[in-house]
Amino acid sequence: MKRRTLIVTLALAIAMLPSIQADSHGGGDHVHTALEDQMSAMNKAWRSIRRQIKDPAKNDSTLEYVAKVKKAAKKSVELTPILAKEKSGADKKNFMTGYQKMMQKTVDMIGDLEAALKAGDNAKAGEIVGKINDARKKGHEKYKPSDD
Ligand code: HEM
Repeated sequence: MKRRTLIVTLALAIAMLPSIQADSHGGGDHVHTALEDQMSAMNKAWRSIRRQIKDPAKNDSTLEYVAKVKKAAKKSVELTPILAKEKSGADKKNFMTGYQKMMQKTVDMIGDLEAALKAGDNAKAGEIVGKINDARKKGHEKYKPSDD
């Protein structure tokens, strides 16, 4: 009986291995979060937006990237940064309120970016991209672990 229990336990451990690996980055002890998934989803599209924002001939393609970033940013508002899990009480509440406000502001600016592109105003769209990028930098300084 004992031997059977051992075999079953081992089989279960082996079956679970892929999901454990999928949850970590580069095999370290890093805890993977749902917010990271959304951030990663918007990262590649964001780089393409920055590269081609000044080119009106690419506005249709830019709008597709903007839609991706918007979707992920909207989902991010509802998610909890890993740093919040180390906090409690009023400290945690303030952290979460600040985070949600900044993320919602980012979603609003992405809406403005969409409107500017649809209107063919690439100069304005370029300015908004600069503002979103500042929010990205500030948001990471305040709410993201610095070793990441
Ligand atoms: C265009 C805008 C943004 C882009 C492209 C972006 C991109 C990223 C990337 C690539 C990561 C690392 C993901 C990983 O480790 O797998 C990340 C993490 C993170 N970002 Fe952003 N970000 C943006 C805006 C923001 C804003 C405005 C905030 C805050 C209001 C924010 C908060 C965070 C936090 C808290 C993390 C760490 C994840 C966690 O705590 O679970 N980001 N972001």
